[in-house]
Amino acid sequence: MEPHRPSAVRASGGGRGVLSAASRGRHSGSLPATDPRGGRYPHATLSPAVRSCHRGWVLPVPPVNGFASDNVAGAHPAVLDALRAANVGSVPAYGDDPWTARAVSRVRELFDADVEVYFTYGGTGANVVALQCLLEPHEAVICPATAHMNVDECGAPERFTGAKLLAVPTEDGKLRPGDVTALVQALHGEHNVKPRVVAISQPTELGTLYTLGELAALADVAHDHGLLLYVDGARLANAVVALSCSVSQMTSEVGVDALTFGGTKNGLLYGEAVVFVRPELGRRARFARKQAGQLASKMRFIAAQFEALLQGDLWLRNAAHANAMAGVLAAQLASVPQVELLRSVEVNSVFARLPAELVPVLAEWSFFWTWDVQGSVVRWMTSFATTEEDIAAFVEGVRYFAGKGQAAT
Ligand SMILES: Cc1ncc(COP(=O)(O)O)c(C=O)c1O
Repeated sequence: MEPHRPSAVRASGGGRGVLSAASRGRHSGSLPATDPRGGRYPHATLSPAVRSCHRGWVLPVPPVNGFASDNVAGAHPAVLDALRAANVGSVPAYGDDPWTARAVSRVRELFDADVEVYFTYGGTGANVVALQCLLEPHEAVICPATAHMNVDECGAPERFTGAKLLAVPTEDGKLRPGDVTALVQALHGEHNVKPRVVAISQPTELGTLYTLGELAALADVAHDHGLLLYVDGARLANAVVALSCSVSQMTSEVGVDALTFGGTKNGLLYGEAVVFVRPELGRRARFARKQAGQLASKMRFIAAQFEALLQGDLWLRNAAHANAMAGVLAAQLASVPQVELLRSVEVNSVFARLPAELVPVLAEWSFFWTWDVQGSVVRWMTSFATTEEDIAAFVEGVRYFAGKGQAAT
């Protein structure tokens, strides 16, 4: 979830039920103008909200790596090295190059199968390409209401597939087999759309995880009804690490039919892969990718990044680090009385409820997304680049601003 949300969607702004795009938003439009590394902010550079909270002259130094998302991080140095190394000579465009061939082979090795692999620029594009291959326009996707494709992709899946998303409200971002059965039974005949794909993300948008058993149960119910199970894996690596399993154990072996394999949030400049476990499902993929504007002409530069990520298990180390840092962040924030941690950390996100007045001030100091404005719920994310110093700096800031708030009441 990373789109720029207009500042009109603020604490006062028309939020509705929990976790919709409309109820989330930037709490503050303007970040301090001074160099955050300088450590000193003249009052004049800060908004009245921060100024009113701040009685001293020096604010804590914000973290170098903020906690807004895992895509606010830069690229991993090994990825940049790989890009430089790939920057030699002419090679055929559009993926007919040695880097792409090697990267595809490496993904196939991970699955220990001849899966079909299509690299794309971004995660929304990857979802569009995959779904275009799996659906006819009169068909439908069953997904959790919180799914990124439902909330944060500007309707791209519907726009490009013509198919409808059937969004199921959930407590924890996880779809249950009963949700699938209920919709399949409720929708029949030409007056309704026809469910064809069950789409989940692993981990979910709420940072929760499906167990392998839960994935298998979803695959079974989907297949029993003639549906396909699709996994949005923008953060697949974080899930693989958290479940201590292999990528194939979490996907092909439990019955996933197609998925995305994220790179951007795990150390790439950009790049995702669409993977069809059943190759016949990808027969339209070349065309769908081109039509969706996701066919890179200089494909070697996406492939070279993937090669670097998959080499020596960098992708697992990056994700393990991100997950561990979220655990450290949560552990340190647990002792701040104003911070109510909402669920245990399973991957690389921390969800917390804060006093409403603290959120805009803190977010202006070191930006993060407000997840649910009405509930005063925020999301903090860690990445491969997060350091313990970042966490210490952030926790110090939380304590500082929370203390100011208390002193003011
Ligand atoms: C689960 C999930 N899927 C897809 C995307 C879309 O990725 P992109 O922003 O590259 O389009 C995101 C981005 O936050 C995401 O969290």
